[in-house]
Amino acid sequence: MEVPPPLVLKRPLFVPSKTLMGPGPSNCSQRVLEAMSNPVLGHMHPECLQIMDEVKEGIKYIFQTLNDATMCISGAGHSGMEAALCNLIEDNDVVLLGISGVWGHRAADMARRYGADVRYVEASFGRALTLDEIRAAFDTHQPRVFFVAQGDSSTGILQRHIAEIGELCRQHDCFLVVDVVASLGGTDFLMDEWKVDVAYTGSQKALGAPAGLTPISFSKRALTHIKQRKTKPKVYYFDILLIGQYWGCYGTPRIYHHTISSTLLFGLREALAHFCAMGLKNVVQRHRECSARLQLGVEELGLELFVQHEQDRLPTVNTIKVPFGVDWKKVADYAMRKYNLEISGGLGPTVGHVFRIGLMGENATLEKVDMVLSILNEAIQSIKLRAVERSKI
Ligand code: GLV
Repeated sequence: MEVPPPLVLKRPLFVPSKTLMGPGPSNCSQRVLEAMSNPVLGHMHPECLQIMDEVKEGIKYIFQTLNDATMCISGAGHSGMEAALCNLIEDNDVVLLGISGVWGHRAADMARRYGADVRYVEASFGRALTLDEIRAAFDTHQPRVFFVAQGDSSTGILQRHIAEIGELCRQHDCFLVVDVVASLGGTDFLMDEWKVDVAYTGSQKALGAPAGLTPISFSKRALTHIKQRKTKPKVYYFDILLIGQYWGCYGTPRIYHHTISSTLLFGLREALAHFCAMGLKNVVQRHRECSARLQLGVEELGLELFVQHEQDRLPTVNTIKVPFGVDWKKVADYAMRKYNLEISGGLGPTVGHVFRIGLMGENATLEKVDMVLSILNEAIQSIKLRAVERSKI
């Protein structure tokens, strides 16, 4: 049997223009989009390697680190999580997961696959972990690796006290992995000062590049540990010693590991350049101001924020309780149908309970905040009205 060419591919490509105000991806700027229309380069061409070096410098700045082992994993944010855990964990290592939403569970699933003895410390619904809870869990479990998401996009929770957790990890000879996929750019993060051993972020959130390259950095201490592993990391693709060699991190000749997408590199390079030009502190301040305005607006609309304490709220991904009797999906569909605006529902434990509104990168402006508030309100009122009309029939 011969398989014919599909008819659908005879049609021209159609991509609608949407405003992406869910948990990510966020919209890319024109600068980033134009950068990605440059000609493709070979993955070992000197110009490509030069751009990789520039990207590396940008990542060091946004993470506030001097780590040599700073690079990107070719893959979405999940690949950063995989690489962090895959390189640190050996069979039967105790890995403690700090959980305030879906990402701790996702990391647990991965850690188990790498042979870890997985333990949990879980925050109560809608709250961040307290330092006392974390300290007690360290005393009980004596972990080799502690994982925490600084920002959990499923709940909109910001985990503070990373510096204190870094100190605690050193006292317990434990490696600290911090997922800053959703938080970087929206809140402070000082990798070296806070003694974080591995951090990775999403390119598609506050950075405003497309998904596909994940910035990651390993501390000197983590790197020494990885070099002394009894066994090689279980996944070749995530082996940081090999990827770092390709990225020119160790002062040794570059060696081919995989074929990086030069197109994505161009986009990320420009996103980082824009971020650096604005300055880390200013970017964080802007995200905070936008979130503060959104939170105020939500309350003025008579809606309720999901995260109980103000200091535990993630500025980038904001969670709002779905009002009683309202179908979140209908609200999200209304916003998309009428305005091409993405408002997201919950994820994991928050499905059906919350709307998630992302204020990231290009979309972290006061104008966008006012727009999303007005559309959210209109959508909820319209869905409520329809429900009343239906009940009369
Ligand atoms: C993805 O990051 C999500 O939170 O849905």
